[in-house]
Amino acid sequence: MLDKLQKILQKKQCSLIELTVSPKNTPSRKLFEKNGFKNKSGVTGSITKIDELICAKDYYGPGRDFIIFHKKI
Ligand SMILES: CC(C)(COP(=O)(O)OP(=O)(O)OC[C@H]1O[C@@H](n2cnc3c(N)ncnc32)[C@H](O)[C@@H]1OP(=O)(O)O)[C@@H](O)C(=O)NCCC(=O)NCCS
Repeated sequence: MLDKLQKILQKKQCSLIELTVSPKNTPSRKLFEKNGFKNKSGVTGSITKIDELICAKDYYGPGRDFIIFHKKI
């Protein structure tokens, strides 16, 4: 599914996929890491660490820290 989505986005001239994952969602985080997504949580300027994972602090509101993943396509 990820490969299919990537191909569709490339056809539409998209060059970057951005998504967010809860630091508590280990299976999802691993899925994206295995598929070449990089943790870019620092792009927001405000980071925190949860279970040793760098997260964007309060990304979805107070206390809702999330990992921001990017993949260049
Ligand atoms: C995201 C999803 C598709 C991943 O499926 P999957 O790749 O088959 O997941 P697996 O059960 O094989 O687990 C992947 C990894 O996470 C690990 N893992 C799974 N549950 C875990 C837990 N509770 N704690 C720690 N690690 C865990 C597994 O050991 C595995 O590690 P490995 O790759 O190093 O062997 C599936 O979990 C899902 O449909 N989740 C619900 C929807 C969702 O979360 N979507 C994403 C929203 S951002």
